Amino acid sequence: MPFYQRRGDVPRKRHIVFRENGTLLTEEVMGLEGFSGNESILYHLVSPCRVKELGDFTPIEREEWIPETHAHRLQNTYDVEPEGDEISGRRTLMWNDDVEISLCRPSGTMDYFFRNGEGDEVIFVHEGSGTLETIFGDVPYKDGDYIVVPRGTTYRFVPDGPQRYLVFETPGLIEIPRRYRNQYGQILEGAPYYHRDIHPPAELHTHRDRGDHLVKVRVRGGYQDYVLDYHPFDVVGWDGYLYPWTFSIHDFEPITGRIHQPPPSHQTFQGPNFVICSFCPRKLDFDPDAIPIPYHHSNLQSEEMIYYVSGNFGSRKGISVGSITLHPSGLPHGPQPGLAEKSLGVAETTELAVMCDTFRPLRLSTFARDLDDGKYALSWYEPPSEDPTLAGVTSHL
Ligand SMILES: [Fe+2]
Repeated sequence: MPFYQRRGDVPRKRHIVFRENGTLLTEEVMGLEGFSGNESILYHLVSPCRVKELGDFTPIEREEWIPETHAHRLQNTYDVEPEGDEISGRRTLMWNDDVEISLCRPSGTMDYFFRNGEGDEVIFVHEGSGTLETIFGDVPYKDGDYIVVPRGTTYRFVPDGPQRYLVFETPGLIEIPRRYRNQYGQILEGAPYYHRDIHPPAELHTHRDRGDHLVKVRVRGGYQDYVLDYHPFDVVGWDGYLYPWTFSIHDFEPITGRIHQPPPSHQTFQGPNFVICSFCPRKLDFDPDAIPIPYHHSNLQSEEMIYYVSGNFGSRKGISVGSITLHPSGLPHGPQPGLAEKSLGVAETTELAVMCDTFRPLRLSTFARDLDDGKYALSWYEPPSEDPTLAGVTSHL
C-alpha cells in the first residue's frame, strides 16, 4: 500500500505473454475497490484457482460476555497460557463490526498456510521474532513491529522462539492516515514516520514443490480449508502497491508540545471507524505551567482500548506489561486522584503502549471476562481518610 514495489520477474507490459521454460504463466490482478483501488499483479506457475480438494468449513464461534454493569475495565493478559498456533491461537478479547482485537500467545506453529479472504490485519508483535513467509516474499519481523497484512495475502509464520501478539482484524482497509499523505501518496513532513520506516517483503522465493498443501481461508465468518497439489508460493514475480509490510513502533517519532497533545497526535493507522495509536517514550509537555498528563475527557463517540507494552507504569495501580484498559463510551475518564498534582514538573515518560479507539461500541468475550480484574472502575474512589497522593504518573489514559 505505501508505494510501488516489484520483486522477481515481470513482463515488460501488463497482460501480455509471459513464459518460463516455455510454460505460459498465469497472471493474477489482486486489487481493491473493484479495479480502482491499489493493486498488485502476480505471475504464477499454476493457476491460483487450482484446488484439488475442498476441505472443511469451520465457523468462528465467539462467546460473548455481557457484563451486568457498564464500567471502565482492566484486564491482565500477560500470564495467559500459550494455546494453538499463530492463527488458531488468536483469542478474541473484544470486537464490533469494524474491528476484532485478539491476543495470541501460540504454543505451536501453523502447519498450513493462511489467508484472510475478507479482512486486513495488523499484528502487533509484543514479543518474538521470525519471518512471515508470504506469497509476496519474506517479511522478517521482530518485537515492536506492526505487521500489516492486506486481505488476500497467503502467508504462514515461521517464528523464532516464543511469540506474543496483539491482533487487529478488520473487514475494512488498514491505511496510513490520510492526513499524513499528500495528494500523490507521499508521507508528509510533520508525519510521525516516513517511507524509510516501512519495510516491504525483503525477498521473493518461488516454490516449485508439488504435493498436498493445506490453505485455510477466513471467509464468511469461518475458516474454509482447501487442499492444493502445489505450493501456494508459486509466484515468479509481482509488482504494485498491495503487499504486506512492517513498521516498528520504535520508529514512531512522538509529537510533543508545550502543552498537552491530544491522542490523535499518536495515530499510527486508520481503519473504518477506528484508529490505532502508538504511545512511545518521549519528552513531556514543557510549559512551566503545563500539566503533563491528560485532562479528564469524555469521548462521547468512542471507546478507548489501551494495551500496555513496556516501560514504567508500576506507578499506576494494577497495570503491568500486557495489561489492557478499556474506557467505554458514555463515561468520562482521566487521571486517578493525586496524579495531576504529582505529574507537575515530570519531564519524560518511558511508557510504550498501543491504543485502539473505536467509534462504535465494543463487545466483550468471555476470555476478556476471565481476565477482568473487576475493581478498576472504582480506582478513582478514595475513602476520605486515604492519602490522595498514593499513585504515580501515567502519560496517557
Ligand atoms: Fe482517554
